[in-house]
Amino acid sequence: MAEYDEHPAYPVGLRLNGRRVVIVGGGQVAQRRLPALIATGADITLVSPSATASVEAMADAGEIRWERRRYQDGDLTDTWYALVASSDAAANDAASAEAERTRTWCVRSDDAEAATAWTPATGRSEGITIAVLTTTSHGRDPRHSAAVRDAIVEGLRDGTLAAPHHRTRAPGVALVGGGPGDPDLITVRGRRLLAEADVVIADRLGPRDLLDELPPHVEVIDAAKIPYGRYMAQEAINQALIDHAKAGKSVVRLKGGDPFVFGRGMEEAQALAAEGIACTVVPGISSSISVPGAAGIPVTHRGVAHEFTVVSGHVAPEDPRSLVDWKALAQLRGTLVLLMAVDKIGAISRALIAHGKSPETPVALVQEGTTAAQRRVDATLADVGERVVAEDVRPPAVIVIGEVVGVGTGPEPAGPLDAEPLEG
Ligand SMILES: C[S@@+](CC[C@H](N)C(=O)[O-])C[C@H]1O[C@@H](n2cnc3c(N)ncnc32)[C@H](O)[C@@H]1O
Repeated sequence: MAEYDEHPAYPVGLRLNGRRVVIVGGGQVAQRRLPALIATGADITLVSPSATASVEAMADAGEIRWERRRYQDGDLTDTWYALVASSDAAANDAASAEAERTRTWCVRSDDAEAATAWTPATGRSEGITIAVLTTTSHGRDPRHSAAVRDAIVEGLRDGTLAAPHHRTRAPGVALVGGGPGDPDLITVRGRRLLAEADVVIADRLGPRDLLDELPPHVEVIDAAKIPYGRYMAQEAINQALIDHAKAGKSVVRLKGGDPFVFGRGMEEAQALAAEGIACTVVPGISSSISVPGAAGIPVTHRGVAHEFTVVSGHVAPEDPRSLVDWKALAQLRGTLVLLMAVDKIGAISRALIAHGKSPETPVALVQEGTTAAQRRVDATLADVGERVVAEDVRPPAVIVIGEVVGVGTGPEPAGPLDAEPLEG
């Protein structure tokens, strides 16, 4: 068996565009391999009496040609590459023999040793294709290949693997939604941009733990501490983004949740556009959905709530600056999710009740959701104002009003990270 070590497989990238590829067998193996083969632009024929629903959908969409029958000799004529993966051992052997005869590179899912080609574990990140083949003295080791592939792809995606001189540190600004607080809840793209940044301007909310991981040369600026002299705070932040970008830096503006949900993200994007500075926006997981979820509350639930409305409670209902129609909200049957509403919840609950919402409507307040400090306080619309004071609920908190508050009752989630997603 030393043969594998002495004669390792030769890695190669096949350019299959427009070239005939034949797949024998329409099961799980074909289903897994087909998307990458289709992406090459290959002219793909599937020979198989049956196929999985997903493979059938690819045939229906015209991405592959499907001949609904058993393999027969001659199917590999003019074929560049064959994948033999049917449950019919005799057909596999016959197809493999034809491939050998016609000098067609042939992968076999049932017998790697009889194959003339092996499929590596592959992954892609930002224009790089990673292909890993592990061979030992015992033959192939696909699990090891997949594990190595995963480690490489993850490293490239989160930026930890790129050699410093290869990092794509384009000057400009990325407005990155950091998610609700748990550092694992930022997007892959956001995390990679963070790893590539020269300057990070961060809000108080969001995944602050990620800032500790940044290399020492990265300048981390607390947005709340930017001196704003004759500017308003937001203008001072805009100016800081502009100044650093103009100095040729790669700047990440790290925001809590999603940049465009009460995040003033568009104001920053517009200020940058006015200066001709390139700006990328990376969406984030908004606290409005994820924080209730982390506390076991789905914002919708079949048969309970068919809508949810996210509302800012930063100004009281009677305040002339308020743009919210509290009367209309009181008529809705669905879920109300209030952000920035801890201070004004007493006035808000009174307004909702005055406009007809039941005082018995369940309410939950979730403070510092998805972090180690997460806590949930339950109330009703009638007593929520008192409960907030009695329980000393403080911002940041998401307040959920509606029957969905009760649907997840049962065992409390063991912790913020263990909250089980609920399916409708
Ligand atoms: C200025 S808004 C920004 C919202 C953010 N852009 C988002 O999409 O989640 C701040 C409010 O979001 C809510 N919030 C953000 N993170 C939170 C968290 N981890 N736990 C509870 N509430 C949170 C609170 O209502 C807080 O007052």
